[in-house]
Amino acid sequence: MEKTICELFAGVGGFRLGFDRLDSGWRTTWFSQWEPGAATQWAHQCYVQHYGDSPDLNNEYHTGEDIASVEKSSIPDHSLLVGGFPCQDYSVAHTLASAHGIEGKKGVLWWQIRDVLIAKQPPFCLLENVDRLLKSPAKQRGRDFGVILACLSALGYSVEWRVVNAAQYGAAQRRRRTFIFAYRNDTHYGKEMAGRSFDEILREDGFMARAFPIQGMEPVRQKDIGSDIVAVSDTFAFTFENAGYMHGGTIYTAKVVEAEEPATMLGAVLQHNVDEKYYITGDKMAKWVYLKGAKKIPRRTKEGHEYVFSEGPIAFPDPWDRPGRTMLTSESTLNRSTHTVVDPGTGRIRLLTPVEAERLQGFDDDWTAGMPDRMRYFCMGNALVVPMITRMGHVLDDIIADEE
Ligand SMILES: C[S@@+](CC[C@H](N)C(=O)[O-])C[C@H]1O[C@@H](n2cnc3c(N)ncnc32)[C@H](O)[C@@H]1O
Repeated sequence: MEKTICELFAGVGGFRLGFDRLDSGWRTTWFSQWEPGAATQWAHQCYVQHYGDSPDLNNEYHTGEDIASVEKSSIPDHSLLVGGFPCQDYSVAHTLASAHGIEGKKGVLWWQIRDVLIAKQPPFCLLENVDRLLKSPAKQRGRDFGVILACLSALGYSVEWRVVNAAQYGAAQRRRRTFIFAYRNDTHYGKEMAGRSFDEILREDGFMARAFPIQGMEPVRQKDIGSDIVAVSDTFAFTFENAGYMHGGTIYTAKVVEAEEPATMLGAVLQHNVDEKYYITGDKMAKWVYLKGAKKIPRRTKEGHEYVFSEGPIAFPDPWDRPGRTMLTSESTLNRSTHTVVDPGTGRIRLLTPVEAERLQGFDDDWTAGMPDRMRYFCMGNALVVPMITRMGHVLDDIIADEE
C-alpha cells in the first residue's frame, strides 16, 4: 500500500509535518485549507510556502477554497485521510426527497469528511477534535460522537478513539484532544483486529494503546449503536469514556489512565531577552493581575435573576516547572487564558513570543514567520501538538507494512 495522505482542514500543516518527521516515505497528495470570511488566507499561504500547492485530478488548484465547494471525486487518491475539525451540531434529518437520504446542518464540516470517505474510500482515516466532542450536546450527551460512529460503521469502518493529554506523552502543553482512528474492515489490519477482544485492543494491541500506552483501565461498558444515522441523531445518548472501540455497530468504552512520560516544562521552551513589545508594562499590569485573580461578581440574568459569578485564581505568571496550559486562538490577547511568563534573561513578566507558541505545539521555530504576530498565535491556537501525530505515524508505519 502506498503511503499517501489527504489533509483536510490543514491549517498550517500540523498533520503533514508530523508524518514528514517520520521520514518513512509518506507523501501528501492533496490538502484543503480555507478560513471562512478571511480576506487574507494566512494559513493557506503558510502551508503553500512550506510545501507548495497541490493540483487535483483535473489538474486544477482548489486547495484554498471552501471544501464544501470541492467536487470530492476530483481529490487525488490517498490511503490515509487526516484532519482536525470542529465540534459542531451533527444532528441529521431525512431528506425530503428520499427517506433513505440524510441531511445534516449546513456548514458542518463532518459531512465534508464523510463525503470524501464516500467518494475516495481511503483504507485509513485519522481525525482530531476537542475533548468536548464525546459529551456533546449537553441535552443529549454523546449524540454527536454517536452520529460520527454510526456514519463510519455504515461506511464499513471500525473505529478507535482516545482523549490524549499531550503533556502525559512528553509535550510542553496540557492539551486534551480526541483522536479518532478509523480503518476499513476489509484491510489486513481490520481483519486482524476483528480477531482480537475489545479488552486486548483497548489495553495493548490497538492503534491508540500502541501510540499512547496506558497505566490502567476501568471496566469496559458496551452498547449497540447500529448504523441508522437518523435514529442515532434522534435518540442516542451515551457516556463515552476517554478510550473506546467500535466494531460492527457495537461500542466498547472504558476510562483509561494515561502513562506518565516525563513532560517538557514551560521553562524549557522559553526564549531569552525577547523584544520589548512582548513585556507587560505600566497600567496593563493591573489589568492582567485582575484578569488572573480570583473574583466574585454580582450579576443578573436576562430574566432578572441575581447570582454571583465567581472564579478562582490562575497562576500569574505561569510557572516554569509545569507544562503550559492549553493554548487557544486568543493567545497573547488581554485574556485570562493567555500565558504570561517571567523572561529567563530579564526576569520581567511578558507574553509568549510567536516562536514559543510554535514550540508549545511542537512546530519548528518560525514555522509561521511572515504573518502578523496576531495570526501566528491564532494559527498555533488552531493547530495540534505535532509530536502526537508522529507517535501515531510510527504505529501506522507498522500497520501499512502489512497491507497489500
Ligand atoms: C482546527 S483547525 C486545524 C489546524 C491544523 N490541524 C493545523 O495543524 O494547523 C481547522 C482548520 O479548518 C479550516 N476550515 C474551516 N472551515 C473550512 C472549510 N469550509 N473548508 C476548508 N477549510 C476550512 C480553518 O481555517 C482551520 O484552519
